[in-house]
Amino acid sequence: MMQIHNLPEAYAKVHLPSKVALAVTQKPDGNYNLITIEWFMRTSIAPPMFAISIGHSRYSHDCLQDVRYFNLVFPSLGQKDLLSLAGSQSGRDIDKFSAGKVSSMPGKLQKLPVLKDAAAVFECEVVTQVKSGDHTIFVGEVKYSWSNPEAEFFYYQ
Ligand SMILES: Cc1cc2nc3c(=O)[nH]c(=O)nc-3n(C[C@H](O)[C@H](O)[C@H](O)COP(=O)(O)O)c2cc1C
Repeated sequence: MMQIHNLPEAYAKVHLPSKVALAVTQKPDGNYNLITIEWFMRTSIAPPMFAISIGHSRYSHDCLQDVRYFNLVFPSLGQKDLLSLAGSQSGRDIDKFSAGKVSSMPGKLQKLPVLKDAAAVFECEVVTQVKSGDHTIFVGEVKYSWSNPEAEFFYYQ
């Protein structure tokens, strides 16, 4: 029988972060930041677009207000520890690229680095943003797409 609950109770029954990604942004000092995100989706086929929802308190939010690009990174199996690091520490306090020993190369857009060990990376330019409660949805148009045939995509089971 259906019962009424508060949202966290009802959501706990159906919620599993089966898909998780990272978003790379640029810090005001020119270095780069990483954030673990679960709230992302494709939003357009032509042109290709992805939306990411970023909390107002996140340092990544500040970064995105300043530099209007993000790289959406689909992690590989070997990047599980990086997902934990990027999802628990703030780029305000640490450099996640060096703390996570991230191996990267310049992107084709010449804006943000591409993570060499990722399963796929999409270089996006922010074209729209929408405030959504305590988050902002940044919609990015995909400019270049990368994938690594040797990397197996990580997802929660
Ligand atoms: C599995 C997982 C999923 C997450 N999803 C999101 C998300 O979709 N949006 C968001 O703003 N924060 C999300 N977070 C929280 C951020 O990753 C976390 O607060 C991070 O430390 C913020 O880093 P920053 O301050 O450098 O931007 C998630 C964390 C985890 C562990």
